Amino acid sequence: MKISIFGLGYVGAVSLACLARDGHSVIGVDIDSAKLELIRDGKTPVVEEGMVDLMANVAASGRVTVTTDVIQAVLDSELSLVCVGTPSASNGSQDQSAIIKLAHDLGRAMRGKTSDHLFVFRSTLVPGTVEDVLRPIVERESGKRDGEGFHVCFQPEFLREGTSIKDYDRPPFTVIGANATVPATRLRQLFGHLPCEFHVTSIRAAEMVKYCCNNFHALKITFANETARLCEALGVDAFQVMDLVCKDRQLNISPAYLKPGFAFGGSCLPKDLRATLYLAKTRDVELPMLGNVLGSNRVHVDHAIGKVLASGRRRVGMIGLSFKTGTDDLRESPLVLIAEQFIGKGLNLLVYDPEVHLSRLLGANRRFIEQHVPHIGSLMREEIESVIGESDVLVVGLNDTKTFEALARYVRKDQIVLDLVNIPQRGALRGKVMGLCW
Ligand SMILES: NC(=O)c1ccc[n+]([C@@H]2O[C@H](COP(=O)([O-])OP(=O)(O)OC[C@H]3O[C@@H](n4cnc5c(N)ncnc54)[C@H](O)[C@@H]3O)[C@@H](O)[C@H]2O)c1
Repeated sequence: MKISIFGLGYVGAVSLACLARDGHSVIGVDIDSAKLELIRDGKTPVVEEGMVDLMANVAASGRVTVTTDVIQAVLDSELSLVCVGTPSASNGSQDQSAIIKLAHDLGRAMRGKTSDHLFVFRSTLVPGTVEDVLRPIVERESGKRDGEGFHVCFQPEFLREGTSIKDYDRPPFTVIGANATVPATRLRQLFGHLPCEFHVTSIRAAEMVKYCCNNFHALKITFANETARLCEALGVDAFQVMDLVCKDRQLNISPAYLKPGFAFGGSCLPKDLRATLYLAKTRDVELPMLGNVLGSNRVHVDHAIGKVLASGRRRVGMIGLSFKTGTDDLRESPLVLIAEQFIGKGLNLLVYDPEVHLSRLLGANRRFIEQHVPHIGSLMREEIESVIGESDVLVVGLNDTKTFEALARYVRKDQIVLDLVNIPQRGALRGKVMGLCW
C-alpha cells in the first residue's frame, strides 16, 4: 500500500520503519525538519532497540520518503496513519492542538483528491474526539462527507517504548474502531497477518479501550507496589507473594471480576480490605489506592440509589437482597445498604430473595440484618410476582434464569426496571429498563 504517516515520534517512526520493511511505500510527515533529515539519511529519530539497523535498511530500499507537505502526502497515498503527540495540558486535559491543526490540513488536502482515502487516527484520543472533533473538521475543510470520498477510523496503538518493534510485530490485539466496513477491510489487509486477534468495534469504544488498557496497567503497577510496601513493613518477601498471586489464573489473572456490575460486598472483601488498611496504618505504610477502594464501592451503591430516587417513583421492589445470587449471606450486602437507604427516605419497599429466610438466619448474618434493616421481615415476600405487581420501580440484583423469566412474564409497561446484573435480552422486557452504568 501507499501509506502516509503524520507525526514521526516513537509511534510514527517505528510504524514507518516496520511498514516499509514489510514492503509498503511510506511517506513520513512531521513539522520537525530535524527528524525528517535523520530519516532521509537512514537514521532513526527515536532511540529504540533495532531501529538503527531497520532505518538504514528501509531508507536504502527506496520505499521511504519524507516531507513537510501534508497535501502532497495525502495525494500520494491511499491511507494515512495519524500519530502526532497528544500530551497533557497544564490542567490535566488532553492537549489536542497538534492533531486539530493537522485535521484542518488533512481536510484541505482532501478537497483536491478524487480517489478514496482512509484516515486512521492512532494517537491516543479521549473518547468522542474522532467523531465529534476531528471528523467534522475534515468534512468541513474537504467539503466531503465521511464515507463519501474518505473514511475515518481509530486504531489504538499498544506498543511500548523500549520494545516497540517487537510489540509492533506481536501486539496484544488489533482493535479497529470504525462505523463502516471499508476501514476494517483495509486495515485487515495491512495488519491482519499479525499473530493476534483482530477486533472491530465502534470508534468511541476503541478510543476508550486505549485509556482503559493504560489505566489498568497503571492500576496493576500500583497494586504490586502498594503490596510491596506493606510486605516490606511486615518482613514478607513481596516477590514471593506477587509471584503466587499471579499463579492464580482462575480468579486473579483472568477475566474474573472484570465485568461491569454492582458493588462488591459479602463477608470477606470489605472486612479483609479494612483489616489490610488498619494493618498498614499501624506500620505507618500509606496505601492510597487500596485506601480508596471501599469509598469507590460506596459511590457505586449511591449511584444505584440515585437512579431510583431520580425516577421519582415511591413504590420500590427489590429483587435480591443477599450479597450474591444463590446465597443467603446478607453481611455487607450492598443490596441491604440500598434497602436501608430506601427505608430511610420513606419509600414503600418490598423485597424478594428466594434464598433469604429470616427465621433461618444465624449469628453474624442475623446481627447484620437486624442492625441495618431491623423491620425487613415485614417487607419480604415469598413470591416474586407480588413484589413486581405492587411496585412502580424494580431493582434487579438477582442474576438467574428464573428471575429473568419472571421479569419477562410480569413486568408491566408502566414500570421502571433498574438493572444491576446486565439482564440478558432486557430489551424484550415490557417496562423501561435502566442499566446501572449501561
Ligand atoms: N510513546 C508510546 O509508547 C505510545 C504508545 C501508544 C500510543 N501512544 C500515543 O501515540 C501518540 C504519539 O506518541 P509518540 O510518543 O510517538 O509522540 P512523540 O511526541 O514522540 O511524537 C509526536 C510527533 O508528532 C509531530 N507533530 C506534531 N504536530 C504535527 C503536525 N501538525 N504534523 C505532523 N507531525 C506533527 C511532532 O513533531 C513529533 O515528532 C500519542 O497520542 C501517544 O499518546 C504513544
